[in-house]
Amino acid sequence: MSTATHAKSPFLSTFPGRYYYDPAIFAREQERIFSRMWVYGGVANSLAKPGDYRTLKIANESVIVVRTKQGDLRAFLNVCRHRGSRLCPETSGHLNGSIQCRYHAWTYGLDGKLIGAPGVLNHEGFERDLYGLHPVALEVWHGLIWLNLSDNPPSLAAQLDDPAVRDFGSNGPIERYGIADLKVAKTITYDVQANWKLVMENTLECYHCGPMHPELCALLPQYRTGVIDGNEGTDFAEGVEAFTITGKASRPPLPGLLPDDTHRYAGFFGLPSIFVNLLSDHVAIDWLEPLGPTQTRVTSEWLFDPDAMARLDFDPMDAVEILDLVNRQDWVVCELAQQGMDSKAYAEGGNYAPLEHHIRDFVDYVLARLGDDVE
Ligand code: FES
Ligand SMILES: [Fe+2]
Repeated sequence: MSTATHAKSPFLSTFPGRYYYDPAIFAREQERIFSRMWVYGGVANSLAKPGDYRTLKIANESVIVVRTKQGDLRAFLNVCRHRGSRLCPETSGHLNGSIQCRYHAWTYGLDGKLIGAPGVLNHEGFERDLYGLHPVALEVWHGLIWLNLSDNPPSLAAQLDDPAVRDFGSNGPIERYGIADLKVAKTITYDVQANWKLVMENTLECYHCGPMHPELCALLPQYRTGVIDGNEGTDFAEGVEAFTITGKASRPPLPGLLPDDTHRYAGFFGLPSIFVNLLSDHVAIDWLEPLGPTQTRVTSEWLFDPDAMARLDFDPMDAVEILDLVNRQDWVVCELAQQGMDSKAYAEGGNYAPLEHHIRDFVDYVLARLGDDVE
């Protein structure tokens, strides 16, 4: 692990191009990063009723997260213990009290126990306890689900508090935003034809904000300079009331915020897969699932105070439109960047300008996890 500089150069080195398309490197990242770290798994209260479930891709696994009859959340590998069939092929839905495999109708309780296996369950010598669904570690942190594929997961708190993991910003203010009490009002999924690290790197810097995000910079003028102050947050422009497409506020601030929070954009970034935008009247969560070496699914969830959502005139779209616009602008340049990655011009990688130097911490973090030594 190292940070390469040329003498007096203003640059730090990026990953070499192959890190953005090589299937072998992608496979190692899945094994050493996504299979070992805690990975975001959705908003806990969006699985409100027993039987509500969602599925996610983590590394090469599909995982089911489900609300049980007892009201707790459990996660399992989405694989039948008979002959391996995918149990829940949809990304979300509702189960009527059990998970039944379509193939030969083996049936599992919402707690993962095998409760039905035609012609087998009562067979002498069949030990049904050995055939429950494989559990996946699950914790809820500030109302957010985290999942870990490891058999011996490390501490989630240690991961989220590790400065190398939350690259900028602080998750300290998250308490004031009361995320566990907010509800998802809108979800948009984007399929981005770019390696997950290009998406992360784009999220980490604002050097591109001036050229790429004029609407964002109109709300947050500091972003024109390319400087992100993650710890203090970034002030709204004069006259801007809220982080909306119009700059006007159509909802009251979230309860629990300090006066300064109500005119600022703050956020934190939790490796390997989540960025949380903390705004005066909502919270927006962007999270990614690497689907392949050059393909990433990004999901954005907009959360609001349930009291605001209960109003007849509630409409989340003024908040949704601005971030959706910024997201789409970002995906365009992530996909353009991807197109240069396998060029011989990028075989040795590119350069981080001074305003992007902090991205090198992300590069070093990934390289350390992979055990690679790249200048
Ligand atoms: S593969 Fe699931 S019941 Fe046979
Ligand atoms: Fe951007």
